[in-house]
Parts: sequence; structure tokens; C-alpha cells
Amino acid sequence: MNTISSVPVTADVVVIGGGLMGRAAAWRLASAGLDAVVVAGEPQAAASNVAAGMLAPVTETTFTEELLLGLNLASMERYPSFAAEVSEASGLPSGLRSGPTISIAYNADDAARMAQLADYLTRLGLESTRLTSREARQLEPLLAPTIRAGLLVPGDASCDNRQLLAALREAGGRSGVRTLTGFVHHVSSTADRVTGVVLADGSEISAPTVVVANGAWAGQLTGIPALPVRPVKGQILRLDPGRFPQPGLVVRAFTRGTEIYLVPRDSGHELVVGATSEELGFDRRVTAGGVYELLRDARLAIPMSTEYVLAETSVGYRPGTPDNAPILGRGALAGLVLATGHHRNGVLLTPITADAVAELILHDRSLPVIEPFGVERFDRSTSGRATSERPQNDRGVRT
Ligand code: GLY
Repeated sequence: MNTISSVPVTADVVVIGGGLMGRAAAWRLASAGLDAVVVAGEPQAAASNVAAGMLAPVTETTFTEELLLGLNLASMERYPSFAAEVSEASGLPSGLRSGPTISIAYNADDAARMAQLADYLTRLGLESTRLTSREARQLEPLLAPTIRAGLLVPGDASCDNRQLLAALREAGGRSGVRTLTGFVHHVSSTADRVTGVVLADGSEISAPTVVVANGAWAGQLTGIPALPVRPVKGQILRLDPGRFPQPGLVVRAFTRGTEIYLVPRDSGHELVVGATSEELGFDRRVTAGGVYELLRDARLAIPMSTEYVLAETSVGYRPGTPDNAPILGRGALAGLVLATGHHRNGVLLTPITADAVAELILHDRSLPVIEPFGVERFDRSTSGRATSERPQNDRGVRT
């Protein structure tokens, strides 16, 4: 990685954010010959580092997010070639792991809810197969014998987000992307166009193009019209199965009214269990209640999980927007490009976001698929919203 140790710096483009969005966009731009600088904050805190890495356009879909589904599916389509390109450019594994994903229902109420989801998927023409408990356990033998039903979704996969991030950093570095560690205090501008950024320590980077890709922190940027992005806290666990068998499939479980996911890695040493969803701002606390609920529900789905080592507990911040969909496209000032607000779908939306940002900056063209996701939609009345708020239960866990 090419790090910058002295400032001032001049570049063609400055990318605010060293997570998946920022890294992927910077790599695309540098590969096309632009001088790109990434300003990366605290790497451990980035949602790209904390996430589980589900690529789940189908199993994460909800009844109110059909417009977002189109974007998610478009990004999923790009994943295999994107991952192969990143791997080729970096010499590192991309982390992509193919599906299927299995959803399971713990009790009769959960099964009713899953059946509703299955009907919805059928109406949308998305492939899924209903399974009896026995069929589900034949496919994933570690599932609890007491589960009521399953749903197999062939198209949903996963990607080890930490591997992907490392590969994108390397690919970017090899293409000439420079990295500066720090926090952007504000975007600088003349009357109508951006001129660069100023960091919290007062140092400046001059560039005619600024990409906002700092996830949940985008709402704190000054110097540009405020972005409606807020942190949605998620507590998430990493278990190490060690010598015990781990599930082969990504498992999503409806467990007594709550929902969790368990995402295995090929190494056999990491099973990611997530996640709470809490409106607590940038609250860094890992709580007893959060960990308890995740472990309790993981055990209901996969009893063997109680044997695994609790290797890591972490907190991440999903960049939430008022309609749960990302903010993609041009900003209010010339030279400003927005790529934030990816909420629950950041890992999934990385390929399409990088391509869309590159298309805007390199060719001054907007990919048609991102057009509904411009920031201007929030200037309209609520009837213009792309999707709607996702409900939560009283513990703040996603319902
Ligand atoms: N996409 C998983 C999560 O937001 O927890």
C-alpha cells in the first residue's frame, strides 16, 4: 500500500473512506489512469471490517424494498467477474464463496413467516425451494432436529469481507492509489464546486473531484449539504469451530420472532454470527444482552455452536438512510460524488458502486440502475421514497 506521510497533497480525486466502497472505487479510478488518494479513518471500525459478508439479495429482501432489490441483484450479477478481477489485480483471494444459502424456521410462527417470504420470492420470480425439516437437515446436518422448515436459496452467497478489503487495498496500491490515514473534517469548495478536503489535523488535499464513501460517518461531513446518513449499530460475533464441524452453508434463521445469520468461512476457523440492529448512534459497547441473544439464537439453529470458541465480539455501524437504500450519484456541488448509505448491503453493493462511481467520474455518465438512488430523492415528499423503514422489535433486534 502506498501511504502518504507528508502533506499538502494534490490529486485528481480524493476518496473519503478506506472501506470497501472507497477502496473499490479508488482502484477502478487509478486503473484508468487517475491519481487517486484515499483518506482512511480507523480501519477496525469500518463496517467493511466488521460485517459478515453475506451476498444475500434474495434472503435479505423485504416486502417494502423492491427498488433496492433490483440494485442488489444487479450488483450480485457483477460479483463473480469483479471478484476474479480483484484477485487477479492483487494476487490475493477475493473471499467470494458460492451459495446456496439456507433459511430455517425454528417454530410454527417462524415457519409461517418464512412461508410468507417464500410466497413473496415466488411472486418476484426469485428462485427458492421449500424444504421440510428433514430435507433441510440432509443439506445441512448441523441444523437442530427441532427446526420446523427450511428454504433453499441457490443464488445467495457470501464473501469474506476482510479478505476482499485486503485484496482491494493491494490492488489499489499496485495501481497507484495513495492512502492517507486520518479523518476528514470538511470538504472544501468554491461557490459551486469542490476543491478537495481538509483533515481534522488541518492538512489539506486538493482535488477537483471528491468521493464521499465513508459509510456511517458521511452524515458528519461538513462543507457540503448534510447527508441523511446515520449509524445503525450492529453487534456481531466471530466463533472459531476449532476441531468441531462447522456448517457448510450460510444459514439464516428465524428464531422465535428474531432473525440471525451464521456465515461460515472456508478456513473452518470462523463462523460469523450476526447481528443486532440498534438505533444508538456511535455506541461502541458490546453488551451482555446483545451477545446473549446472538448466542442463544445461534444455538437454537445449530446446537453444535455452543462448543465453538467465542473468538471475537465487535460493533459496526451500518450507514442507514431514511429509506434503507444507498445514496449514489452526483452531489450538490460540481465534482462531488456520493457513494454511501449502503445500510445492510455494503459488501453486496461494492461492485456496482465502484462501477457507478468510475462511470460518473471517467465518462460523466450515470449507470441507469443507480438513477433512483440519488440524494435528491430526499428533497421530495415522503411519497417519493424508494423504500420504507424496516421494523424493529423492542430490543432493537431486527424483526
Ligand atoms: N446484512 C447484514 C446486516 O446488516 O446485519
